[in-house]
Amino acid sequence: MEVRTGIGWDVHRIAPGRPLMLGGVRVEAEFGLLGHSDADVLIHAITDAVLGAASLGDIGQHFPDSDPRWSGASSDQFLRHALALVREQGFEIVHVDTVIIAERPKLGGYREAIRKRLAEVLELDPERISVKFKTAEGLDSVGAGQAVQAQAVVTLQRESSK
Ligand code: C5P
Ligand code: MG
Repeated sequence: MEVRTGIGWDVHRIAPGRPLMLGGVRVEAEFGLLGHSDADVLIHAITDAVLGAASLGDIGQHFPDSDPRWSGASSDQFLRHALALVREQGFEIVHVDTVIIAERPKLGGYREAIRKRLAEVLELDPERISVKFKTAEGLDSVGAGQAVQAQAVVTLQRESSK
């Protein structure tokens, strides 16, 4: 078996009056995130990690934010497309580990819903998906309540060609 890992990171600015989408789940909050698409910072980080593990570039190459087709787009479709691309190369996802860095709201109550939703999109057992949360302890833009960040590490495997 050939095993590959990919890393993804994203940040979006907080904005009042937008829905907060994290991992494909609508989270109750008095703010959302700014972005051309639905601004799902977690799905964007996972999409980059999937692409990275197969050395297939990054999300902006595949879905330019200058393209009106992706205006308000549900980020699920970015992740589904990345999955299709790595499958074309013979890869399957083995595991996804993530962290959302947000000062508020408390996200622990959404962990299982996010795992379940990501598992549906990635056609994986939720046991293979890890979702963690951290504050920034009041530091920097996340700590000041101006932004939310996400990080992801994705492990792929395929039958070795040799
Ligand atoms: O950032 P800190 O170490 O204080 O986070 C402690 C715990 O609080 C995390 O391990 C996580 O379980 C939870 N948390 C959360 N929602 C956040 C940030 C942290 O549920 N937005
Ligand atoms: Mg993004």
